[in-house]
Amino acid sequence: MSWNQTRVSERLNIQYPIIQGPFGGGLSTLELLTIVSNSGGMGSYGAHILAPDDIIALVAAARQRTDKAFNINLWVSDHDAHGLDLDPASFERYLKLFKPFYDQLGVEYPDYPQNISQRFEEQVEAVIEAAPPVLSFVFGIPDKKVLQACKQRDIITMGAATTFDEARAITEAGIDIVLATGFEAGGHRVAFLKPAEQSLVGTYTLVRQIDHSLDVPLIAAGGIADARGIAAIQTAGAHAVQMGTAFLACRESGTSDEHKQVLFSDKAHNTVLSRNYTGRLARFIPDEFIEAIDKTEGLPLPFPLHSFFVAPIKAAAKAAGNAGFSSHYAGQGAPLLKHRDADALMSALVEELDCLN
Ligand SMILES: Cc1cc2nc3c(=O)[nH]c(=O)nc-3n(C[C@H](O)[C@H](O)[C@H](O)COP(=O)(O)O)c2cc1C
Repeated sequence: MSWNQTRVSERLNIQYPIIQGPFGGGLSTLELLTIVSNSGGMGSYGAHILAPDDIIALVAAARQRTDKAFNINLWVSDHDAHGLDLDPASFERYLKLFKPFYDQLGVEYPDYPQNISQRFEEQVEAVIEAAPPVLSFVFGIPDKKVLQACKQRDIITMGAATTFDEARAITEAGIDIVLATGFEAGGHRVAFLKPAEQSLVGTYTLVRQIDHSLDVPLIAAGGIADARGIAAIQTAGAHAVQMGTAFLACRESGTSDEHKQVLFSDKAHNTVLSRNYTGRLARFIPDEFIEAIDKTEGLPLPFPLHSFFVAPIKAAAKAAGNAGFSSHYAGQGAPLLKHRDADALMSALVEELDCLN
């Protein structure tokens, strides 16, 4: 069998088992999704901050641009314990902790919010109504009713695991495909059975453990950024790869040009796991903000409270091209990046994999 005909490419009905990972926080774009799906892989869109109506419009727009498989992604757990607790007194207390950052960047203080979270239950209802080809989940497993509704609507489901126990739970719940995401990955650590800090398994080991003991279509993510990485993880037992950082660095992704430049710089050799930008553990290139929050007693707050207070800082930093406060998400494979264009990245991967296999 050739490298591109696998359990996952057959299940998803795609030409190449290469998936563009979804990006939350407004960094996904329809353009990127479309290019990857139309070039034979599968494009994704991170929808966890979208309102239900926007999700329906998004799926309709994606359908107009591609008749191939594409994936919509949601976060099952949308808040941590106490992550939505915000009475006026605690708002004032937290605001005080963030004021030095707002003052440093000349950012207006946020007002007491009406709502700081989207609700997964309403979002997933919208996805089921819109029925995209694929729905992927992180931070948990949806309840049975949701999974049954997906089956009825012919939506293929994918669940993300950071440990073997999570992969087994996803398989037992009847989710179609497991995504094994190792600690090398850019973005959040999406653990749901144990705290993220206790769920740090590397991509290779996680794939081997799952392949060894579970009979399930398996996608690997984390630190895979070139054709050799894909060939290696396929040898280890993965039936497809999901790449995030390599696509984030492309012109068509929604992140800033400044972030893209940093991903191609020498700085990308060093990444850290930190809760300091959102309240949940994620991998970044270290910066001034991460260091400063480390030194601020009482922070970080739980998710999404922390994100609410950080959002104006990030927006101002992004607008000003301020590298110290811009949240440079990056996976450990960033130093391998070569391509700045999603079409060129897809063609190079396919050509090199044809040669390697
Ligand atoms: C900026 C950024 C945002 C991300 N947001 C999400 C998300 O909302 N949902 C999700 O399932 N994965 C998310 N991911 C993970 C990617 O989809 C992908 O699995 C991961 O980046 C793969 O590891 P790599 O970056 O080493 O290639 C994000 C990754 C990055 C870099």
